[in-house]
Amino acid sequence: MDVIFISPGYPTEMPEFVRGLSMVGARVWGVSDQTAGALPQMAKRHLAGYLQVPNIFDEADVVQRVRQWVGRRHVDRVEVLGEFWMLLGARLREALQIPGLTMAETLPFRDKEVMKQRLDAAGIRTPRHTRARSEVEIRAAAEKIGYPLIIKPIAGAGSSNTHRVEDAKRLEIVLPQLRGVAEVSVEEFIDGEEFTFDTLTCHGKIRYHNIAWYRPRPLIARTNEWISPQVIALKNVEQPALKAGVEMGQQVIDALGFRDGFTHMEWYLKADGEVVFGEIGGRPPGARQVDQMNYACDFDAFIEWARIVCWGRFEGRVQRKYNVATIFKRAMGEGRIIKISGAEQLRREFGPYLVWENLLPVGAMRRNWLQTLVSDGFWVIRHPELSTAMEMADRVGRDLVLLARGT
Ligand SMILES: Nc1ncnc2c1ncn2[C@@H]1O[C@H](COP(=O)(O)OP(=O)(O)O)[C@@H](O)[C@H]1O
Ligand SMILES: [Mg+2]
Repeated sequence: MDVIFISPGYPTEMPEFVRGLSMVGARVWGVSDQTAGALPQMAKRHLAGYLQVPNIFDEADVVQRVRQWVGRRHVDRVEVLGEFWMLLGARLREALQIPGLTMAETLPFRDKEVMKQRLDAAGIRTPRHTRARSEVEIRAAAEKIGYPLIIKPIAGAGSSNTHRVEDAKRLEIVLPQLRGVAEVSVEEFIDGEEFTFDTLTCHGKIRYHNIAWYRPRPLIARTNEWISPQVIALKNVEQPALKAGVEMGQQVIDALGFRDGFTHMEWYLKADGEVVFGEIGGRPPGARQVDQMNYACDFDAFIEWARIVCWGRFEGRVQRKYNVATIFKRAMGEGRIIKISGAEQLRREFGPYLVWENLLPVGAMRRNWLQTLVSDGFWVIRHPELSTAMEMADRVGRDLVLLARGT
């Protein structure tokens, strides 16, 4: 089993997937624009070979170089888990005649309008929506859909350039900010709680699913720097309030014909109980949320994913033991982290329920919180009781404080 893996070193969880593949017996061939020396240890250890390309975003060039590199050797799979390289993966599969998502099958995962049209056709509730390519079209779409509404890039990620617009006056303020975006999706604004629905799917059947609750909703988290956003993987995914969301998830998999691997969906639960679909990625969630799944069930989702894509089998023993909360921190001030306070006290109180500390150390430069949900790092706590997990997460939000100062 020979697998080409795009970007084995970045983002930070990629080496874990490479490990998973090699643990189930695959030879993994990495391709990216990092130098081989810059790859994380875990990736190096589990790669059979590595091709450095000048620019991983230059799809035509990468396809040509990989073809040359592969030569006459046989390749069984091309795996891509990063949102921006999904189409590159499909192009490589088509060029090397390898099974898996094709270009046409990848499109609904990358184009928010095509995705919603497919789901509408399958009778799945999506926000009312339109594609718009100019200011004139956006204004017309806004008239049709009504306020409040959401405008976002058609192929966006991480809530970037996503705007909630209250009225026509506000629209005129937002329009100039969208000038660099060729195409946007204009949508009815859905008020409600926001959840993920993440699946390990094998032959089109969901074999494992994870539901995480965003506190607060991603757009709010991304608009207010003072917030320490939480993502909580829920232990009780069978509760009646989530049932309609789970059913919708399987319908989406069926409607898009997704067969093998991870998916990451987002959906909204309104106060009146109605569920509305948000979006789907044909890849795992980022921001270490696959690790969250491992902490929730004490299993290894990286290996289970690899077994599915290589051998078409799922062997995970899923025991849901914990609610797992990741709390992302943003330092106060700009520049370098100069002080972290509150950690000692919380460690003492939380004991074994604090399972992972991953903050930037004192001395490190702050990350750009607008570009990465991970921000200046995170803590992960887990607890069998949701209310206790939430209390602990809120304490981390409030009492763990990072200070930064310009140099
Ligand atoms: N129609 C909508 N109604 C309410 N909120 C929305 C809507 N569309 C997007 N959002 C908010 O913006 C965030 C980002 O939008 P999303 O479609 O998930 O794009 P991406 O995560 O790829 O940037 C969502 O998580 C949600 O908080
Ligand atoms: Mg999203």
